[in-house]
Amino acid sequence: MLDSCLLFALACWQPLPARVPLRELAADRLRIGAAVDPALLGEQEYAATLAREFNQVEPENAMKFERVHPGPATYNFEPADSLVAFSQSHRMAVRGHTLVWHQQLPSWLTSGGYSFVGLSSILADHIYTVVKHFAGQVYAWDVVNEAFNDDGSLRGTLWSNALGIGCEGTAYIEQALRWAHAADPNALLFYNDFGAEPVNAKSDAIYRMARDFLSRGVPLNGIGLQMHLSVGPLPLDKIEENLTRLEDLGLQVQITELDVGLPVDAAGKAAPPDIVRQAEVYTEVVALCLKHPRCTAVQTWGFTDKYSWIPSFFPGNGAALEFDAQYQPKPAYESMEKALRSFHK
Ligand code: XIL
Repeated sequence: MLDSCLLFALACWQPLPARVPLRELAADRLRIGAAVDPALLGEQEYAATLAREFNQVEPENAMKFERVHPGPATYNFEPADSLVAFSQSHRMAVRGHTLVWHQQLPSWLTSGGYSFVGLSSILADHIYTVVKHFAGQVYAWDVVNEAFNDDGSLRGTLWSNALGIGCEGTAYIEQALRWAHAADPNALLFYNDFGAEPVNAKSDAIYRMARDFLSRGVPLNGIGLQMHLSVGPLPLDKIEENLTRLEDLGLQVQITELDVGLPVDAAGKAAPPDIVRQAEVYTEVVALCLKHPRCTAVQTWGFTDKYSWIPSFFPGNGAALEFDAQYQPKPAYESMEKALRSFHK
């Protein structure tokens, strides 16, 4: 009995395929990134998983206006600098996020009562100082984030409202791109938004803006598709149609903030069918990007369920990322791995 078991075990034994980190599988095709909190780099498993699996990082918050420019004449680059240093010692590229947004602005700015002349010079100084500081270290910037409403109209913000910085319509976005380009002519400049993945009113507006900018030589290199998704059906055809029309303009497309939020119980656990569906969504997104040569990065918004913005912003949801809270790869991770491997075949 023992012998036949042993024979059976020997006959059936196959070595497990060695796990190859995502960054190695992705190496010659696209960047595989994660949004990062520099304050967590001291946590051994956080830093080790990040360095092993990813070849791109983006600060989740550390380069936002309120963090880097907390006082009218005060810049604080330390946390973001520590992430840049980490990225350099682990051969990772850094995406910058974000220069012009309507959220996470310091109160000195929002309640400062500035005229359009004042706001314009504050934004020029901000963009110039921040982009110059990271020149040669940050290869791509989300220059403007979330400037459109779902119906394709321009969002009213500090920068666009009333006189804003004194530019009409999308001209303030153009101005921001021009300032960023002047500060670092080598950085790739992106417009980044959510809900504009498929062809729809918002992505139509972004497309029209991009086409106009490129026809006039405005320095725009790419569009970031955030991809904060859920387990519902993904309108893949419509997403591909949008991706293709952006590529046809000569732009890069990057998936910048991928996560797939699931309904979770009080312990943060998701239902098994949702975990399976989540894995499918990860496959669909990574495979779509791989299919398009101008889709140059897939980045998730965090990488471990231990630290994700989803539970606090969408109560009752969570488990959105590719590693669980113990840094174990989830089916979503296996999906990314499989999609990357099949690209090499
Ligand atoms: C989120 C961060 O994840 C949170 O930690 C922060 O409190 C709020 O912002 N779109 C973006 C990101 O472009 O900057 C947002 O990040 C998530 C939505």
